[in-house]
Amino acid sequence: MKTFQPPRRVLLGPGPSDVPPRVLLATARPTIGHLDPAFLQMMDEIRSALARLFRAPQYACLPLPGPGTAGMEAAIMNLLEPGQAVVVAVNGVFGRRMAEMAERAGAEVIRVEHAMGEPVDPARVEAALWARGAKALAFVHAETSTGVLSDAGQLCALAREHGAMTIVDCVTSLGGVAVDAAGWSADVLYSGTQKCLSAPPGLAPFALGPRAREAVAGRKLRARTWLYDFDLLMGYWDSKGGRAYHHTAPVNALYGLHEALVALEEEGLEAAIARHRRVHEGFVAGVEMLGLRLPVPAASRLPQLNVVEAPAGVDEAKARALMLERFNLEIGGGLADWAGRVWRVGLMGASATPANVRLFLEAMAYALNAQGRRTDLLAALDAADRKLGS
Ligand SMILES: Cc1ncc(COP(=O)(O)O)c(C=O)c1O
Repeated sequence: MKTFQPPRRVLLGPGPSDVPPRVLLATARPTIGHLDPAFLQMMDEIRSALARLFRAPQYACLPLPGPGTAGMEAAIMNLLEPGQAVVVAVNGVFGRRMAEMAERAGAEVIRVEHAMGEPVDPARVEAALWARGAKALAFVHAETSTGVLSDAGQLCALAREHGAMTIVDCVTSLGGVAVDAAGWSADVLYSGTQKCLSAPPGLAPFALGPRAREAVAGRKLRARTWLYDFDLLMGYWDSKGGRAYHHTAPVNALYGLHEALVALEEEGLEAAIARHRRVHEGFVAGVEMLGLRLPVPAASRLPQLNVVEAPAGVDEAKARALMLERFNLEIGGGLADWAGRVWRVGLMGASATPANVRLFLEAMAYALNAQGRRTDLLAALDAADRKLGS
């Protein structure tokens, strides 16, 4: 066995995104005890920064140990009780995962299924809430499997009108488009570090609102999870909880998240969101000039995750493999019904740069050319540049 040296890549897949050197360096700082007073102070700073990022001033925010799926598991297992009716909007792979988890929590799951590429339809969700008197609504804000953004504000408002709590998956949205927990009056939100925050994978930022805290405190049965039991977690993360040992926090991963949050606040959240939008617009202009089509209508496209159709006669997996081999550029393939038919191109966090759009266009033109399709790369770069600026 020898030291592992990963190849150098540019990460334009559906996550992880590129981690900037300052964040990587932060994770290499000396490990200290997870109850060290200096560490506890850093934990408090992370909690406050997450509350700003989720726009959740009255919420309990903390990063859970584990990937985005840990956030999903914590949200569902803490909020839902056996026998409780929950509406789950399914418009891709991650909505489906939420529904499966809610079934494991013992909830009565009412799925509102959508075709791939559609945003969540508020009218159909409302009909389901109305018909079944559901106590909760769960949905994905930014569906990474299809590159679709749903209207979280409207969905949360509908849930409120029907007296239902909301669980909002913000794994891909947080830091890339506006997330407004308090403005939406959302109840539970969770995310991941490896998308628009550009920290290494393995932590799940989590926010629990005041109503949800009451609901969790008033549960009849204890949550079907120990590691992600919210009250136990807060015993460690909240100074009011006495900092009781619960699990050994991933100390160095938290240094990385802290540094990523410092970097984001330096840039400014609004500026970061505007950067994602500008880079996306340059990407779309360039890709269309290469003769490629985006299946998601412009109104519900997610800036940070772009789905591009592979033209007939082009083997999408071969094109991806060639881009990785010749350009060290990683992009993703399609999932579920779209497997083998589309590419998924992430422009998330530190990966969302004009230079990466140009690199992508060059690599894609090269890969298409290798399969006999002629493209005009210079015209594509020119079209992208007109949107990207410098
Ligand atoms: C919308 C969404 N939810 C949940 C997840 C699960 O996150 P993880 O893979 O970090 O467990 C992902 C991962 O891509 C995602 O995109």
